[in-house]
Amino acid sequence: MGDRRIRKIVVLGGGTAGWMSAAYLGRALGQQVSVTVLESPAVPRIGVGEATIPNLHRVLFDFLGVPEDDWMRACNASFKMGIKYVNWRTPGAGEATSRQRSGAPDEFYHLFGLLPTYQNLPLSHYWTHRALAGETAERFDRACYPQAPALDANLAPRNADGTRWTNYAWHFDAQLVADYLRQFAVDKQGAVHIEDMMTEAVLDQRGHVTGLRTQGGRLIEGDLFVDCSGFRGLLINQAMREPFLDMSDHLLNDRAVATAVPHDDEAHGVEPYTSSIAMSSGWTWKIPMLGRFGSGYVYSSRFANQDEATLEFCRMWGLDPEEQTLNQIRFRVGRNRRAWVRNVVSVGLASCFLEPLESTGIYFAYAALYQLVKHFPDKNFEPVMRDRFNREIEVMFDDSRDFVQAHFTFAPRDDTPFWRACKELPLADAIAEKVAMYRAGLPVSMPVVGEETYYDNFEAEFRNFWSNSNYYCILAGLDFLPDHSLPMLAARPELADQAEPLFARVKQEQRRILDTVPTCYDYLRQLHGK
Ligand code: FDA
Repeated sequence: MGDRRIRKIVVLGGGTAGWMSAAYLGRALGQQVSVTVLESPAVPRIGVGEATIPNLHRVLFDFLGVPEDDWMRACNASFKMGIKYVNWRTPGAGEATSRQRSGAPDEFYHLFGLLPTYQNLPLSHYWTHRALAGETAERFDRACYPQAPALDANLAPRNADGTRWTNYAWHFDAQLVADYLRQFAVDKQGAVHIEDMMTEAVLDQRGHVTGLRTQGGRLIEGDLFVDCSGFRGLLINQAMREPFLDMSDHLLNDRAVATAVPHDDEAHGVEPYTSSIAMSSGWTWKIPMLGRFGSGYVYSSRFANQDEATLEFCRMWGLDPEEQTLNQIRFRVGRNRRAWVRNVVSVGLASCFLEPLESTGIYFAYAALYQLVKHFPDKNFEPVMRDRFNREIEVMFDDSRDFVQAHFTFAPRDDTPFWRACKELPLADAIAEKVAMYRAGLPVSMPVVGEETYYDNFEAEFRNFWSNSNYYCILAGLDFLPDHSLPMLAARPELADQAEPLFARVKQEQRRILDTVPTCYDYLRQLHGK
């Protein structure tokens, strides 16, 4: 049969996805396989991608064997305990502070972690039972999660002794992350780094890529090619001619204007969360790091042109559009029909992109690498490996697309053409069914394992990524409640009383955290030695 093993991997692109691919595959495959990264200095990285989700450390850095504090220091990283949604319910132009709605600020948190259960029902359902009966006016996030007051108070997700008291993710400088991973892959794993521009993919008779020709006259040969060339999709879309499935019929946003804003941390503290601020034709991210925050207005070019978006964005932060350095970005929303075709696997923006509302971009890249290693082929490229991989990516992407679309569909605001248009877009069958379940009081996508197993077992998390607690944070946060509580709870009202100790425990934990946990600013200053 001969040796069918893949020996040479070529990664095209040196953005976050390219260097992540080199480091991850280098770690998974060991010294028997060589990894070459071809990166053109003439084509800049996208340069955004600063907010993440909690499994980043376990699935990526833990796998690489890098301690959390090491990469945090190298990448100017800060903590993220969730996303604060601001002004998603009240009309008006972009405003960084929360407007008032029915006597309370228009804001809510999307928090990490699973809810406790009683009699197989999550706490969300006891809260709904009370809220619909008028027995509580307390917000869902505050009633059900210990973390909410800690976010208000800008506290760290770790205790003073460095132990973590909750699940959290990170904010970081995207350029520093790519540089850190490059150094790791080159210095620690022996990846070959070539700075040159690819001009042509050489194909054999079967249509497989055999090498990449460059402007500098090189021919870089390989067995497997990982396309991380960004939105251009040079190998997957151009050489393989695989169609990109545009999903602007689900999500309208296709542009962003982004910048960095200096911040006085000592006076205002460092917020341990991403903010998502609703705007006239989209929303703005605010991603705090030490000394600055990254921000960008993600908007739909169908409803605002570049000048209008830039003006609304700059006005909100008090910036002069003539003076400020602004990054104007166009993006495509959707995924390749197949992420892997013949011997080309696309990862990162070359594979799929969902607008960044739930910070899924970097996650999609390392989740794809996890799946690639699980389905790693030999030179026979057995179709079942590729087909199973492609199915996993398809489900991962479409499920997230549906969840993100639901944010726009169920946001009560309808004061501008953009917000009205969001409500007219059709929902896919899968999310329509979930919404029907939610309205009928059923839990949606309940995890089949407990919190510890869920976060320690990526296979379990991947299969059920957006679960009941995510749906509740967003839908209840937007004031979209079930039509009625679960009939089972109506039939046995004593269960709601018996769940009371769970709510009491949340309150007790909230008080303990407020009394003992350091501020995010103090913690980060110490961590970064500043
Ligand atoms: P990227 O475009 O960075 O890199 C492409 C690489 O290909 C470059 O190195 C370039 O030189 C190389 N290249 C291109 N053509 C070449 C050629 N001919 N020859 C050689 N090399 C070539 N994600 C997230 O997790 N959290 C977030 O908050 C955000 N926010 C966000 C906001 C906006 C507006 C966008 C558009 C995207 C995000 N993302 C995100 C997504 C995130 O930015 C993205 O997933 C990563 O940066 C990965 O980018 P890539 O490496 O795929 O492409």
